[in-house]
Amino acid sequence: MSEYILGVETSCDETAAAIIKDGTEIVSNVVASQIESHQRFGGVVPEIASRHHVEQITLVLEEAFVKADLTIDDIDAIAVTEGPGLVGALLVGVNAAKGLAYAHQKPLIGVHHIAGHIYANRLEKEFAFPLLALVVSGGHTELILMRGHGEFEIIGETRDDAAGEAYDKVARTLELPYPGGPKIDTLAHQGEETIDFPRAWLEDDSFDFSFSGLKSAVINTLHNAKQKDLSLKQEDVAASFQASVVDVLTEKTYKAAKQFDVKQVIVAGGVAANKGLRYAMEQKFQTEKTMELLFPPLSLCTDNAAMIAAAGSIAYQQGHRATWDLNANPGLSLERYAKRSTPES
Ligand code: KG4
Ligand code: ZN
Repeated sequence: MSEYILGVETSCDETAAAIIKDGTEIVSNVVASQIESHQRFGGVVPEIASRHHVEQITLVLEEAFVKADLTIDDIDAIAVTEGPGLVGALLVGVNAAKGLAYAHQKPLIGVHHIAGHIYANRLEKEFAFPLLALVVSGGHTELILMRGHGEFEIIGETRDDAAGEAYDKVARTLELPYPGGPKIDTLAHQGEETIDFPRAWLEDDSFDFSFSGLKSAVINTLHNAKQKDLSLKQEDVAASFQASVVDVLTEKTYKAAKQFDVKQVIVAGGVAANKGLRYAMEQKFQTEKTMELLFPPLSLCTDNAAMIAAAGSIAYQQGHRATWDLNANPGLSLERYAKRSTPES
């Protein structure tokens, strides 16, 4: 008998529902993006996000069932992002999932958003442990060591801005529309690395990151040039900024992968779509014959519900079940999530 998991994701600005089979096969994957509604504000406006989720969630859920040609009776469990994220946005998904699960007496599973980003990769390839995940998104920059399914140990994280956040802020200074990451990525490939922006290596043994100094350096460089009436090529600024981000992400990930002697290195989150990062990582790991480098397909890098269902499938098999008082948990930590108890423990 096959196992079907319904996933629901509403932590930020995408309303998403997906059904996956046996933990690894996507049957349907529906994402309604709100980007256009937030663009004129230059970033995600929480109130608008919540309202859109309320409008979209039922339609998105229905479409996920229609596309899969399945009904709720075929579903074994419902997995939903419980955190981290915007509280009003999370609440819409949590309550929709809870209502559906309660009405049809299906098991309910709370999923950590970052666990979802990591498990997006399992929709492509089975995991091999120990595994190192570089999670780079709009809200997160973390190096996570996994010694088994559902085990997450943060070995490094950003001390200030997330990588995607730095991309979005630099893009805003360059007057590019939100989200700026993909646009900077495109510009970077048309320019040259003419400006030597700083790289925050931090202490020798640290796997932590810092991007706020780089962000300020880019903004200062642009302001100074403007004051002196010098014109800087947008493409060169983008190329120089991207080179700094990619350098630090690649070097730190490589060092951690060697230190923990991992079998797989996976890159996850919105910034995993970055062409410069993909290329640099591929070059760096090319000679590592015992380490496999994985990137999710572009459609699974940014927020979606297939990744939530994939993480939910493992949690389901490990016996995790949420109770009917499951709530949105905007500050949920990955390590606390990993240590949550199962009915057997
Ligand atoms: O994972 P995601 O959809 O949302 C969060 O959980 O944060 O990631 C969105 C982030 C945004 O900051 C966006 O600018 C960035 O990922 N991003 C990129 C690229 N595509 C998306 N950053 C750099 N290069 C890209 N190609
Ligand atoms: Zn995300």
